[in-house]
Amino acid sequence: MNILDIIENKKNKKELSKEEIEYFVKKYTEGEITDYQAAALIMAICINGMTQDEILTLTVAMANSGDVLDLSDISKNIVDKHSTGGIGDKITLIVTPIVATLGVPVAKMSGRGLGITGGTVDKLESIPGYNTNLSIEEFKKNIKDIGISLIGQTVNLAPADKKIYALRDSISCTKSIPLIASSIMSKKIAAGANSIVLDVTCGSGAFMKNKEEATRLAKMMVLIGKWAKRKTVCVLTNMDEPLGYAVGNSLEIVEAVKALKGDMAKDVKSVVVKLATEMLNLAHKKSKPADNRKKVLKVIESGKAYEKFKELVEKQGGDVSYIEDTEKFEKAPIIAPVLCEKNGYVKSLDAEKVGKAGLELGIGRMKKEDSIDHRVGIVFEKKIGDKVKKGDILAYVHANSPEKANECVNSILSSYKIGSKKVTKKNILEVI
Ligand code: URA
Repeated sequence: MNILDIIENKKNKKELSKEEIEYFVKKYTEGEITDYQAAALIMAICINGMTQDEILTLTVAMANSGDVLDLSDISKNIVDKHSTGGIGDKITLIVTPIVATLGVPVAKMSGRGLGITGGTVDKLESIPGYNTNLSIEEFKKNIKDIGISLIGQTVNLAPADKKIYALRDSISCTKSIPLIASSIMSKKIAAGANSIVLDVTCGSGAFMKNKEEATRLAKMMVLIGKWAKRKTVCVLTNMDEPLGYAVGNSLEIVEAVKALKGDMAKDVKSVVVKLATEMLNLAHKKSKPADNRKKVLKVIESGKAYEKFKELVEKQGGDVSYIEDTEKFEKAPIIAPVLCEKNGYVKSLDAEKVGKAGLELGIGRMKKEDSIDHRVGIVFEKKIGDKVKKGDILAYVHANSPEKANECVNSILSSYKIGSKKVTKKNILEVI
């Protein structure tokens, strides 16, 4: 078998055999297949798709490319959560401490930014000292000791996905149902949780632009979950507008800390409450969903999840003083306002345009090797439904150069549409 034949087959829309998929995953992980050969195959998959059997085989091969954790000695009720990606998506940082506070252990392996979407690992790394690179023993110990661990893909868990994920990011192959489903589910299977709640984002700032595509992705991941004997629920959420007020790594940590203290943007709160409730429903089969929802709301009000987040940061080596006083986060040298040009109501705020503008600022990577700037980003003052008048500040751009600030101010201004009537946004679209 050789990689050229495999590329040729996928290029010609042939179904790849189990052996071909396993060969590719193994040899690419081991470094015997080059990045450019893998890029050619990934591009062919992105264009020509995969059958259900191919997707299952790819998921299992990626999950088995490293260790597959068995956490049954810690609990039989470990839950995990993952998002298919979005702009301003800081939900993991808020929802996981809430669930852990309610006694459900969380074992979560997150990713870095992908395409225009942000990554939890990049966000966590803006906290000085926070180590996303734990050994499996440390990961397990933290779950045992404090009921939560949030790490990156740096331990030997699904290493094939780590390589393919970074490659996809740099060759514009992020939007693909087979590649997203196998990427997410291979990580979830390898990290050892029994139940999985997936936030399948849908809209301009998501990979899935409409509800039909998001539903197809959700159904595929539920199918993989069933096959892998993991209880899997998908919540379809709106990503037409950035989630919450901040977009950018340390800026989102600041917003998440505020949210954990109970001060949460409306859209963030509806997604947080829904996902946390679904996580409890899966872990506590006997309690009623309405009671679980009440428990989540109570924890948010109590501020206990904020204490759990601090415990997590401390346990993973982070400097907790930054969480206690978020003013300590280094600010970008330029903070420029975006001014409203007419009276009315915010009708839309295009998440995709915001994501692209954020990438230009340095929130994410254009190439695999690029470094990111944790300080930069956008903080919105006005969101869909808000009344605005000419001269109001719509947002602040945090930039590291005057040129980037100017460019971003113009992009953000063009992301807004102002209308004459107040509109509302539905945040939760469906549960699958
Ligand atoms: N998150 C992942 O882990 N993988 C994807 O492909 C998209 C979002």
